[in-house]
Amino acid sequence: MKFKAIIFDLDGVICATDEYHYRAWKQLAAFIGVSDFTRADSDLQRGISRMDSLEVILRKCKRTFSDEEKFALAEQKNQIYRSMLATMSERDLSKSVSSTLCVLRGRGAKLAIGSSSKNAKYILERLGLGAFFDAVVDGNMISRGKPDPEVFLKAAELLGLPPRECLVVEDAAAGIRAALAGGFQAAGLGEGAKCEGTTYRLSSFADLLAIVN
Ligand code: G6P
Ligand code: MG
Repeated sequence: MKFKAIIFDLDGVICATDEYHYRAWKQLAAFIGVSDFTRADSDLQRGISRMDSLEVILRKCKRTFSDEEKFALAEQKNQIYRSMLATMSERDLSKSVSSTLCVLRGRGAKLAIGSSSKNAKYILERLGLGAFFDAVVDGNMISRGKPDPEVFLKAAELLGLPPRECLVVEDAAAGIRAALAGGFQAAGLGEGAKCEGTTYRLSSFADLLAIVN
């Protein structure tokens, strides 16, 4: 096999929670009078931390907020988002993702998650993947968010492998940059496939099977 391990981003790669992020931020934006929060703004939030994502919206807002108010707004968005996550179940794991993961594992690859989300473990449980991955590094375990490579380096360390033996799968520009900065090769989906430097451009999750063989 070309890679001993694959480190997956979560939101927008393993599951479609990127859509829930968009809807929850859209509601929060409306609450503070930002009526022109767009899908393009949401793309800028891919991969970056909750507080950095809030700044993408605040740039469009006329008034300023104290740090305390910003934390309250981020918490308000998270409550909206968590109520959406609570509706998720194993049915939200696509057949293509689950069968691809199983084939990769069958070929002997170690599989890990490298996510900026502080909700990652909850989402994995909802999807029935709570005990599936060999390592999970989430937003609670890092001090620097993507595009810093910390999250992926920590995942590789937990797997006991050097970055050159791991492939990172990402849908975010910040995530592709993080992977490359850490010395990983990167496979991009969606927005991630359009990024400069992306090693492999995927049109679907199952395309991974042709790369990792
Ligand atoms: C992922 C998403 C980002 C989100 C971040 C933090 O990386 O792509 O859009 O801001 O996680 O998510 P959280 O669930 O902790 O608010
Ligand atoms: Mg993502």
